[in-house]
Amino acid sequence: MSNEIDIRNYIEFAKELTLKAGEIFKCGFEGQKIVEAKEHEWDLVTDYDKKIEKVLITGLKTKFPDHEFIGEEDTAAVKKEPVLTDKPTWIIDPIDGTLNFINSFPQTCISIGLTICKELSGGIIYNPLSDEMYTAIKGQGAFLNGKPIRTSCVTELKKALIELEFFSLRFSSKSRDLVLGRLDAIVHASRGIRHIGSAAMALAYVAKGALDSLHMDRLQPWDVAAGVLIVREAGGAVLDTKEEQFNLMKPNTIAAANCTLAMEIKELIINTDLKTMRKRLTRT
Ligand code: IPD
Ligand code: CA
Ligand code: CA
Ligand code: CA
Repeated sequence: MSNEIDIRNYIEFAKELTLKAGEIFKCGFEGQKIVEAKEHEWDLVTDYDKKIEKVLITGLKTKFPDHEFIGEEDTAAVKKEPVLTDKPTWIIDPIDGTLNFINSFPQTCISIGLTICKELSGGIIYNPLSDEMYTAIKGQGAFLNGKPIRTSCVTELKKALIELEFFSLRFSSKSRDLVLGRLDAIVHASRGIRHIGSAAMALAYVAKGALDSLHMDRLQPWDVAAGVLIVREAGGAVLDTKEEQFNLMKPNTIAAANCTLAMEIKELIINTDLKTMRKRLTRT
């Protein structure tokens, strides 16, 4: 069983390793990279995604041989759904925002979450380009480069700046209709929307109050593991759009400064989805 001191040591070691991996990240961002498509032509990976994941997993495994690892590229290679166990587990996105990385759009980062007994216990989000490192340990607050951060104070949707990313827009006509309905509803109900192309960066921005909230669908555990803990530790709420409880292994995420704002968005989404489904039924 890991205690508080162990967790602090795990995260301190991971922070040092992340800074080293950040140097590789910067070389790749500025230089040539090999770009390949995975299962779809829009789902890209570079040699740097693989290199950084390898450096992180090898470094952590050498120091903590009995820990478990769930990495995006490793998971894609074995084509198996990752399963969370009670062991300390590092959930790694070596480059979140690969398309931004390829296009030299500087909203991209390394994201590392740590679960212990299936609970989020530590998180690191590092953008090597701006040298911003967001960190959290469960129960100990959230920090940007060592300074405490808090989510925004906005409780009304009409005053909120919201990040939206809709992965399911690419899929069936049913999910397209749902997404377009949500987009229309949120644009009209809020002060403004953004789409920055990195789920982890967006969660970090919610944590420091630069965004009031975000809504994203069909994410993967490595997109959100670190960010969810950092938002919670910065005083924010994280809800699931569908389930009662947020599920790290199947995240449909709303993260916000507070439960009032998160609930307001969740209700808007549920009501909008109902309207969209009714419209679809009357069309058929
Ligand atoms: C993607 C980014 C993006 C989100 C996608 C993710 P990747 O991660 O987080 O913002 O909308 O759903 O897949 O592939 O760049 O690590
Ligand atoms: Ca990817
Ligand atoms: Ca990602
Ligand atoms: Ca990635």
